Order: sequence, then structure tokens, then C-alpha cells
Amino acid sequence: MIVPSRGITRVRTPVAGHGAKSLLSPKTPVALSIPRADGIMCQMSRTPILAASILAADFTRLGEALQQVQEGGADWIHIDVMDGHFVPVLTMGTPIVEACRRATSLPLDVHLMVDDPESLIPSFVGAGADSITVHVEAVSHLHRCLESTRRQGVRVGVALNPATPIAAIEEALGDTDLVLVMTVDPGYSGQPLIPATLDKVRRLRDRLQAAGSTARLEVDGGINTDTAPEAARQGADVFVAAQGIFGHPHGVAAGVRALRASLQPALA
Ligand code: DX5
Ligand code: ZN
Repeated sequence: MIVPSRGITRVRTPVAGHGAKSLLSPKTPVALSIPRADGIMCQMSRTPILAASILAADFTRLGEALQQVQEGGADWIHIDVMDGHFVPVLTMGTPIVEACRRATSLPLDVHLMVDDPESLIPSFVGAGADSITVHVEAVSHLHRCLESTRRQGVRVGVALNPATPIAAIEEALGDTDLVLVMTVDPGYSGQPLIPATLDKVRRLRDRLQAAGSTARLEVDGGINTDTAPEAARQGADVFVAAQGIFGHPHGVAAGVRALRASLQPALA
């Protein structure tokens, strides 16, 4: 399928199964030691992915901000779409996704914090999204939503809020490329990470590993150089950061580099 996206012609291959379309940047994989509940250390080869959330970017200079993120070595651009219903605020829609698509070659990781997202998804795919994550709390028929999204040629993800138990997505673990654990209540950048969510990350990593799943485990909210290492130790392998990158005192590229450097001890 060819999806024209102003100025860019994008070839989309319908995804038959997981892994058909790689979003990963070719960085050196690292061995991630995951302490399991039973004390056994599991080794797996995982490249940590840094996703810069533009929610904290300077929107008057979005193109420059994206360039700086790329210079710093970020892997994905994370775009937070909020509808004023599922979360109290409104943020970005397809015009911003299209603008990002024109300004960067990095994969666009679209996080839909909207009620009933299914009808909106084709427009985000058309705008240039590479992965689309929906909230389990916002979808009535999760299996159908994931399957129909995957058929549009993008990776699919399921997000869960801090108060949502893992059981809510357990039956969908085989249908998703990504599980996004909200480490704050969604809605705003700059909130402190809720410590109890890291235990959920560990339990989810155990579940994914037991199921032999290759799904990525993404943490989102309050991720910075202090919190990312612990999230990595608990099994996260995708790290979303807005304030931690765009609010870095030495600039955006420095923010990305500092975040990556902070992960090294946890992943050694
Ligand atoms: C929160 C969004 C996050 C947010 C993270 O609802 O989903 O992606 O941008 O912001 P920080 O990293 O500043 O907590
Ligand atoms: Zn997000």
C-alpha cells in the first residue's frame, strides 16, 4: 500500500504478524539482565529505545527541536494525542503528526489518549504514524481494534494507566507489539513517576517472558536520568521522556545523551 503524506511517499506493507516492520534503530544491542520474581536473572538481548515526547517541546520551533532530538541520538518521536475527554486536556492531532513526518525520518510513536480511538486511527496512519498505541481503558473491543490497526500497516501497542491491573490486557498480550505502562496518570508532562508502577513493569516483563513474547515494554511519565535506570532494571526497554529531554539545562541533544548514558549501568 502506498500512503502519500505531503512531500513524502511512504510504502506501507500490511503486517501479517509481529516483527514484519522494524521500528528499531540499528544501535548496538545490549544484554539486559532482568531480575525475576524467583531471583533468577534472565538475559535477553535488547536495544534500549529512547522516545522523545514532543509534549514538552517548543512548538514555535518544532522542526529544530526534532533535529536536535535526532542529533542527540533518540530512536523514536513520541506524540501524545489527548482529546479532553479521556484525559482533561487537548493536545495534538494529525496536522502535528504530518509536520513531524516531514521534519524527521525517525519513527513516529503515536500515543492515543482518546476515548473510542478506533475511528481516528486511519487518519493517524495516513498522517505518517509508525506505531499506534491505544489505552485499554478507552477501547470496548481491544482485539478488533488491534487487528484492524495492524492491518493498516503499523505496529500496535496497548497502554494501561497506573491504576489499571495487568489482568486487563493479559488476553491481548499475544496481539500487541508494545505494552505501554503509564508511570504517571496521563494528561501532563512534568509529573513525578509513581514508584508503584515499576513493580507492574517487572510483573509485566515476567509475563511477556513467560509467554515468549517479543513485545516491547515502554514506560511513559516522569522518566529521567534518575528513574530510567530503575525502570530498565525492572524490564522496560522503551523509555519515553518529555521534560527529561526537552527540559534539559544543556539543551535537547544533551538531554537525549544524558538519558542514554544513565541507562548504561543498569544494562551492563
Ligand atoms: C503523559 C504523556 C507522556 C508525557 C511524559 O500523559 O503520555 O508521554 O509526555 O512527560 P514527562 O516525560 O515530562 O513526564
Ligand atoms: Zn505518552
